[in-house]
Amino acid sequence: MILVTGGAGFIGANFVLDWLTQSDEAIVNLDALTYAGNLQNLASLTADPRHIFVHGDIADSTLVAGLLAQHQPRALINFAAESHVDRSIHGPEDFIQTNIVGTFRLLETVRAYWNGLNDETKQSFRFLHVSTDEVYGSLAKDEPAFSETRRYEPNSPYSASKAASDHLVRAYHHTYSLPVLTTNCSNNYGPYHFPEKLIPLMIVNALAGKSLPVYGDGQQIRDWLYVKDHCSAIRRVLAAGRVGEVYNIGGCNEKPNIEIVHTVCALLDELRPLPTSHLPLTIPHLPLTTPHSPLPTYRSLITYVTDRPGHDRRYAIDASKIEHELGWKPAETFATGIRKTVQWYLDNQSWVSNVQSGAYRTWVEKNYQERG
Ligand code: NAD
Ligand code: DAU
Repeated sequence: MILVTGGAGFIGANFVLDWLTQSDEAIVNLDALTYAGNLQNLASLTADPRHIFVHGDIADSTLVAGLLAQHQPRALINFAAESHVDRSIHGPEDFIQTNIVGTFRLLETVRAYWNGLNDETKQSFRFLHVSTDEVYGSLAKDEPAFSETRRYEPNSPYSASKAASDHLVRAYHHTYSLPVLTTNCSNNYGPYHFPEKLIPLMIVNALAGKSLPVYGDGQQIRDWLYVKDHCSAIRRVLAAGRVGEVYNIGGCNEKPNIEIVHTVCALLDELRPLPTSHLPLTIPHLPLTTPHSPLPTYRSLITYVTDRPGHDRRYAIDASKIEHELGWKPAETFATGIRKTVQWYLDNQSWVSNVQSGAYRTWVEKNYQERG
């Protein structure tokens, strides 16, 4: 079996669900269930004996050592992290605790377990660390995409904490020979994405008739990858990645934020058109038409707000290493992936209302009120 951490969050839950459709190998899923962890993401596995959920912290060495001893996993995939840049700007402490201290404790505990394995299982064991393209910093307009040898230049408390965790993982390989793999991926989107992040926030706000807050000039560029393609890349790296190597993962889908928001609006205009005869009272912006559209459109809800401090201008991933070495390619284009995503949110509105708890509302007020 394998041990996954953070498997109740966005990417981790997609990974667990995907894994169990492809394989009968069981998963132990260790997750602290922070605001971002949600067992509803895994509701379809409630009666599935191949999924063993454990509520706990990656920094709890006693708990993790017990799980390793009991289940003897052949691999560990570390998704657990604090993941939202804006939250890291408001309060970096949790990021330092989980992303740096937590990863360190996990490495120490896994190292002790791994040292006790026999030669054969020791050789085949893998510690796969899931990281981000943000560790490389920000690209100028014409710079080439991030390759694995790009220097680290993290700019936010979030990316700095992930960079530190990557360095620890690297050091445990070089110093102790722990068989590690690291993946650095671009922006994911898809089902179960927590609506604090750009794409799901735009979808849920639009459907609620709320404004669509675009930071700064909206021209920042991200490289978008459908989450299931990230999951398939991780499976591939786990199966065939070379120990100690880093693999960049991306969808070759560079887009400015404003284009993403326009695309979401256009899909909603098509799939859930605004009524022409009467206007929902919740929508504060009138008229609902724009110079581009004689019909009511969600685009009219777009509002430019104060930028994120230290906002990285552009990310782009050069995924040629994983493509050439491991034969991985994304299955979705942005057009197919974003349509599936918008449709998923339309079909799963009870999931959305369940995650919009009091704590979620407090965060939204805190983050957006001060942006004016
Ligand atoms: P997420 O915030 O949706 O989920 C994180 C999960 O980790 C949650 O279930 C949370 O409860 C759990 N967790 C947090 N602290 C923990 C702790 N101390 N112990 C155990 N569990 C803990 O994040 P995500 O978007 O699913 O990202 C998963 C991983 O992928 C992160 O490491 C992130 O840095 C990385 N990543 C994310 C993206 C993206 O676009 N979302 C892109 C590249 C890399
Ligand atoms: O690049 C990978 C990273 O992508 C991951 O490591 C992070 O965990 C993940 O959260 C994501 O980080 P970003 O900061 O790029 O994602 P976010 O969805 O927060 O923002 C995407 C872009 O949209 C960014 O340029 C900021 C902008 N934005 C975001 C929000 C929430 C807005 O314009 N308005 C918003 O309300």
